This record gives sequence, structure tokens and C-alpha cells, in this order.
Amino acid sequence: MVGSVCTTRGIGEETPDRGAIGRPLKIGSLELTSNLLLAPIAGYCDLAFRLTCRSFNDDPAGEQGGLGLACTDLLSPHGLLKGTARSLDLAKTNDEDRPIGMQLYGSDPSIMGEGAAWAVEHGASLVDINMGCPVDKITKKDGGSKLLCDPDRALRIVESVRTAVDRASNGRVPTTIKTRLGWFDDEPVAEWLAPKLIEAGAMAVTLHGRTTAQKFRGHVDLPGIRRVVEAIDGRAPVIGNGDVKEPEDALRMIEATGCDGVMIGRGALSTPWLFRDAWTLQRRGSCPDCPELHARIELVRRFLELMRKHRGDRGAMIQMRRRISWFAKRLGPCRPLREAVRLAEDPESVHRALDAFLGGNLQPAPCRDEQGTGRGADRIDQPAAGAA
Ligand SMILES: Cc1cc2nc3c(=O)[nH]c(=O)nc-3n(C[C@H](O)[C@H](O)[C@H](O)COP(=O)(O)O)c2cc1C
Repeated sequence: MVGSVCTTRGIGEETPDRGAIGRPLKIGSLELTSNLLLAPIAGYCDLAFRLTCRSFNDDPAGEQGGLGLACTDLLSPHGLLKGTARSLDLAKTNDEDRPIGMQLYGSDPSIMGEGAAWAVEHGASLVDINMGCPVDKITKKDGGSKLLCDPDRALRIVESVRTAVDRASNGRVPTTIKTRLGWFDDEPVAEWLAPKLIEAGAMAVTLHGRTTAQKFRGHVDLPGIRRVVEAIDGRAPVIGNGDVKEPEDALRMIEATGCDGVMIGRGALSTPWLFRDAWTLQRRGSCPDCPELHARIELVRRFLELMRKHRGDRGAMIQMRRRISWFAKRLGPCRPLREAVRLAEDPESVHRALDAFLGGNLQPAPCRDEQGTGRGADRIDQPAAGAA
């Protein structure tokens, strides 16, 4: 079997002060099993996918509990309070899906507070406020990253949500924010706003190291994240986010920025075991082997069955057709499989295609993407309403 794409190295040798490396994250009174979080990705990080990622938490090949916290996609407090089918579907969780962050977006402090109380009453282990979404549909209504342009409103939202969450949970559930470096490239608002948001009640800040103007272009700005870490100066944990596709990227994020945790989005879509690997690398200095091809196919099957359970066959097929390319990045050359899944009419046909792939003449796949670069996800459908 092909080994892992991680490099083995003695991380302690180069970094005598290991900082947050290998240290589980604590947010308020919420103690996580690691310092790694699954990002909200609207349309992707739903219950079935979160459970798929969590399934590696007790994998004996790696350090236990690599995925410390997963988060729902962004939720409309109006939708939750009205009980619309779409919002309830997006907020769906269960006992295995713990700890779970529920993320809210909006611009009205009092509705955000009511939505936050709803989230606590429906199982949220943490309530996160979206201050990073660059999508017009959200920013035109003054929500998402537009809040970086209206600091007073941003502060009032944090105060309102924190008060509501504390009341609903008896102070047990933390309130956090997820944001970007700023709106414009030359105005790093987060450097001065993030400390104020903490004073207003945010108990951790997740920082996507890009500006709203950048959307998803260019590379994550690690020095930019570092400046916010320095501005916050230990008053609350900072979670770095952006472009983590390999276990080493998570380590680099911590080393280069001094952040306390790392949130992973697109990298997990192709590599749901990335949390196991990045955590094991931090704790042991090397990664476990990539799951065998058979196990990677089982993972696709498990995801399909979870989708069927939580969204029905029709929903599962829609998701399977759009996601097979992501899974395929770690299945080696598999164009016929991708085509078969895209054309499949029902889940049984998907299982048959997976059987055929496993039993077929294709080379057993190395743990690399189809181009053989070892790189994971670097493209995604055009961000929909939720892209933050
Ligand atoms: C299609 C898409 C949807 C997203 N949806 C959300 C969302 O609902 N809430 C949020 O805070 N961020 C959202 N994001 C941003 C991610 O959480 C993350 O900050 C960003 O993708 C950078 O991290 P990554 O390089 O690890 O993917 C979305 C991103 C994409 C590409």
C-alpha cells in the first residue's frame, strides 16, 4: 500500500516552543479533543459529511479525536424561527454529531439573538456568527463580511448573541465569530476589530486569511493572520483558516501565525481523514498511512448511505453526483467511475459502480489526486449563498 503523502519530521526539533501544536483547543468551557475544526461550507458540510469526517476520530491508525469541532453551514435565524424546511434541514444534527457549532448570519442584533437561543435549544455546542461571507445575497442585506464595514452593528450583534446564548445555556455554550482580514485589501479591519469583538463577548475568532475583495483568489495571508493573533494577544483563541490541504499545511498555519487552532474546509472535501492525519502529525511527528483503497471506497459508500438516511434517495443522488469529483481526487485514475456515478440513476447503481471500480482493471490507487500531485481540493463549485 502506498504510504501517506505526509513527510515524517521531528516537529519539536525546529520549534522548541511548540505553541499550540498538538494541544487540544478550549473555547470557553468547551473542551475539544484536538485543535482542528471542520469549516462550514454551504451545500457541502451537512450532517452526512460531518459524520463521514468524524468517522476517522477513533481510527486506530491515528491519534484519536482529530476532528475537534464541526460546524453547520450558515443558517438564517429567520428561517430557524419560522421553521422553514430548508433551515431545519441545514440545522439538522444528532447525538453522534457532537460537538457541533451552529453558524448564524444576519444583520439584526435582536433576531440574531433569538436565532442563537434557538440554536442552543436545538443542540448547538457553540454558536458562531458569520462575519466573513462575501456573497452579494448576504452582504447586500448587511450581513456576512459586510459587518466588517459596520463595526457598531457587528459589536451589537456579538453582545446580543452572547447574552442570548448565555441565558439559554446557563453560560455553558460559547459564542464565536468567523471573519476575514478585512473588506478591502488595504484595510486590515480585523486587526483592530477582532479585539473589540472579544471585549463584546466573542470567545474565539476564526480568521480566513483573505479579504472580502479577494473572495477566494490568491493565497491565504499567513502574516495577516499573525497580526490579528498578536492584536488579540491571548485574550481568546484564534483559529486560522485557509488553504489547508495537507497535514503539513495545518502545522505551517500554527507555526507561521501563532494561532491556537486550524479550521479546514475544501481540503476535507477530498480528504475527510485530513483531521486524523494533521492531528497525528502534530502529536507524533508523522502521519499514518493513507487509508487503503478499499477503505476509501467504503468511505464513499458510507457517505452515500448517510445521505440516504438523512436526505432520502433523491437528495443523496444529487449530492453524490456533485461530490464524486471531490472523493475522486484521492482515488487515483478513476474517470470511468466518476462518469458512472454521474450517470447513475439510483444508489444501487452507485454501489455497483464502486464494486466495478474495486474489482476492475484500474491500477490500485495511490493516495494522491488524479493528476498525481498529491494535492487535494483546490477547486470548488462557484461559492453559493453561503461562501464566507
Ligand atoms: C462553496 C463554499 C461555501 C462556503 N460556505 C461557508 C459558510 O456557510 N459559512 C462560512 O463561514 N464560510 C463558508 N465558506 C468559507 C469556508 O468556511 C472557508 O473559510 C474557506 O473556504 C477557506 O478555507 P479552506 O481553504 O480550508 O476551504 C464557504 C466556502 C466555499 C468555497
